[in-house]
Amino acid sequence: MNSAIIKGIGYYVPKNVVTNEDLSKIMDTSDEWITERTGIKERRWINNDESTSSMALEASKNAIQDADIEKSAIDFIIFATLSPDYYFPGPGVTLQKELGLDTIGALDVRNQCSGFVYALSIADQYIKTGMYQNILVVGSEYHSGGLDKTTKGRGVSVIFGDGAGAAIVSKSPSKERGILSTHLHAQGEHAEELTLIGPSTRRWVPQIIDGAGKDDDAIYPYMNGTFVFKHAVTRFPEVINEALKKNDLNAEDIDLLIPHQANLRISQFVQKKMGLTDSQVFNNIQKYGNTTAASIPIALAEAKQAGLVSQGDLICLAAFGSGFTWASALIRW
Ligand code: ACO
Repeated sequence: MNSAIIKGIGYYVPKNVVTNEDLSKIMDTSDEWITERTGIKERRWINNDESTSSMALEASKNAIQDADIEKSAIDFIIFATLSPDYYFPGPGVTLQKELGLDTIGALDVRNQCSGFVYALSIADQYIKTGMYQNILVVGSEYHSGGLDKTTKGRGVSVIFGDGAGAAIVSKSPSKERGILSTHLHAQGEHAEELTLIGPSTRRWVPQIIDGAGKDDDAIYPYMNGTFVFKHAVTRFPEVINEALKKNDLNAEDIDLLIPHQANLRISQFVQKKMGLTDSQVFNNIQKYGNTTAASIPIALAEAKQAGLVSQGDLICLAAFGSGFTWASALIRW
């Protein structure tokens, strides 16, 4: 059986930087509160001429360049997002069109913060079986347009940012290198602890318009912050340990853990619980906030650019988020 490597990785973030100071001008919040609770100093918000798929396109071009392949070599697209351009179709087809990749398959993944690791897991299976040779796996999120930017929404809106990351997943040139295993979990009983209810089939647009309209709380993301935090700090170590155990490895074998950038406090908690050193964990939430499905590929691309990811390294990706869903991937780079 083949094994799959991440042959190329790239990211794109909008130019528009929104600092905590900027937020404090539009809602009752402060740099001190946001930094202390989340570690976030700034995030990117797109301008109106950009979209989830346009950011994905830029990230994809960078990943293709990093992989040093022709875009025509891509034979499948997997696109993870919770903020698609349209209610339907999903943005995979838009990305396919924008890249000029005639009629190759495009799959959309709806697993929120775990979306990229779920998508990577799917790509891994296709490469293993030999069904595809080079799969473009993308995570892209445009959060800023849908946040409640008033004081009422501050508990959620200060956390999220826009951006995109992409990877080219290809057949490994050697048996020693590649994705060692992926581990996927979900617990639907907590679906409504971190959710955006409407518009959806549970609350169609006409119902929103006929009801409370713009004052309808269901049109903004809801997060039970403390509840999410408690589950995240349990599930992250659990799913990382599951991956280590499966491969007969230990925490000290990890060269770099790239956790989904949910909240710096969550990452620090996980680091401590796993007994990892500062140099074993990569964080960049300070600059981008939580970009959900995009956060891991953005972080991986930045870590690689910073020279923190080298051939032979053991890289661990781990995510937790809405669903609840959580997942990990262990990669021998
Ligand atoms: N600025 C100032 N004050 C605020 C803000 C803000 N942005 N947001 C909330 N507050 C206030 C609240 O109104 C509350 O005031 P009160 O005591 O007068 O009622 C007070 O601060 C404390 O609010 P809590 O919500 O209890 O604050 P908490 O300490 O729990 O921190 C936070 C909130 C940061 C969201 C925390 O719960 C957390 O980190 N949870 C994890 C959430 C997370 O990381 N989600 C993303 C992961 S999942 C995913 O990626 C989709």
